[in-house]
Amino acid sequence: MADSESGSPAAQARPALEFDGVGKRFGKHVVLDDFTLTVNAGETVTLIGPSGSGKTTVLRLAMLLERADHGDIRVFGESVMWEPGPGHRPISAKRSRRLAGRLGMVFQQYNLFPHMTIVQNLDLAQRTVLKLGRAEATARSLEHLAMVGLEDKAASYPLQLSGGQQQRVALARALTLRPEILLLDEITSALDPELVGEVLEVVRKVTAETDITTLLVTHEMRFARDISDRVVMMDEGRVVEEAPPGTLFTKPSSPRTQAFIRRILDH
Ligand SMILES: Nc1ncnc2c1ncn2[C@@H]1O[C@H](COP(=O)(O)OP(=O)(O)O)[C@@H](O)[C@H]1O
Ligand SMILES: [Mg+2]
Repeated sequence: MADSESGSPAAQARPALEFDGVGKRFGKHVVLDDFTLTVNAGETVTLIGPSGSGKTTVLRLAMLLERADHGDIRVFGESVMWEPGPGHRPISAKRSRRLAGRLGMVFQQYNLFPHMTIVQNLDLAQRTVLKLGRAEATARSLEHLAMVGLEDKAASYPLQLSGGQQQRVALARALTLRPEILLLDEITSALDPELVGEVLEVVRKVTAETDITTLLVTHEMRFARDISDRVVMMDEGRVVEEAPPGTLFTKPSSPRTQAFIRRILDH
């Protein structure tokens, strides 16, 4: 993000998404334990770690699909848990909706409506969430389909598309809602191996061509190495270590990271 107008690199590090000592349990099961992480504006950060280590929960908490038990989570400096000012009042539904609107999430399952065409799927989200009129929504839908290389599929139905194409549509749909922070949860895990590359290519393009902040979970280690500014290794609900991909993948400092990466690469 070179910018001749701005000062030192440190001056550009503006936190987009902050987890500050976050704890979350389901019943007696502690899923996140003092989880702390900052993702700066414009950064691409990848979470890796074994199944059950809490990666999805981190994304769901940021997206306000779950509420943390303690600690704080901030989106561009604003708490998603507490109202500003004294009194420690839980966040109002209205503020919470507004903050959640600054994020977009794509899941392993693409969740397109099967009875609607691709362009109708994209229009619907914009009309209900952004309250856009039909013409404007459709124009933006087509623009975003072009971005993921699927403008020729606008009139098709989801089941006429491959899984990889449907996931690219899901990504386009998330982007039509103008998120400033994009959360991607193992978006290629449900795909046949030959379809993974096209989806990763689109993610690569989006992160390279826009200034969107991205926090993603993936088991595609080569992709993580190529795309990430930082990689964060999680285990048992905590950050084990975080480093630029060149460091984390070649000389991880924690034995747990070493073992995890070796296990993944052996597959
Ligand atoms: N809604 C829930 N209710 C009960 N347990 C949950 C719920 N969501 C997640 N968990 C548990 O929390 C742990 C971490 O889950 P998750 O965040 O999905 O991990 P990961 O994405 O790293 O595999 C798992 O043991 C999971 O079973
Ligand atoms: Mg998960």
